[in-house]
Amino acid sequence: MKIRKLIDKKSISIKISKLAKKIYIDFKNQSFIILSILNGSFIFTADLSRALSEYTNNFQVCFIRLKSYDNFNSTGKVLWNDSLPDIKGKNLLIIDDIFDTGLTLKTFCNSVREQQPEIVKTAVLLIKEKSEVDEIAIDYHCFKIPDKFVVGYGLDYNEQYRGLPYIGVLEQ
Ligand code: IMP
Ligand code: MG
Repeated sequence: MKIRKLIDKKSISIKISKLAKKIYIDFKNQSFIILSILNGSFIFTADLSRALSEYTNNFQVCFIRLKSYDNFNSTGKVLWNDSLPDIKGKNLLIIDDIFDTGLTLKTFCNSVREQQPEIVKTAVLLIKEKSEVDEIAIDYHCFKIPDKFVVGYGLDYNEQYRGLPYIGVLEQ
């Protein structure tokens, strides 16, 4: 498989620094919990946390592993085994790698809201241009990308390529 570089390491780093500042300003010194969706967002979360610490350390970082089974039978189900941390009355920043159909984030955010957190904000590294984001507000994103399958910087193809320091389009 060939990989065509789409977004380089430096551009990602610049965007994440700007995003960290925006998030810090928006949360106005209130504490918050980063709830990061595994596996795809592990690198984005690590880099965003470090960028945030330039401004504040008043946040926790938690991870949750989600599995989406819609590829097989279109049931539109997103499942998770890990229990959520205690989020009642807390401020949350939910982080995912990419917003594609939006199924993962929509389903997860709805369940999270049932636990009555105070503020829920969402951040993704990438949004595909064709995605309909109106149903769920994505508060923060770094890049809009064409409707191609991308890998790197945490994103995988069959669990490979997560370690690439850039975002690339997988080509046959
Ligand atoms: P959704 O369709 O928005 O629910 O996205 C579900 C998940 O599919 C994302 O969290 C990613 O893990 C994965 N995904 C969607 N598009 C891509 C892609 O282009 N490359 C790698 N993973 C993707
Ligand atoms: Mg994912």
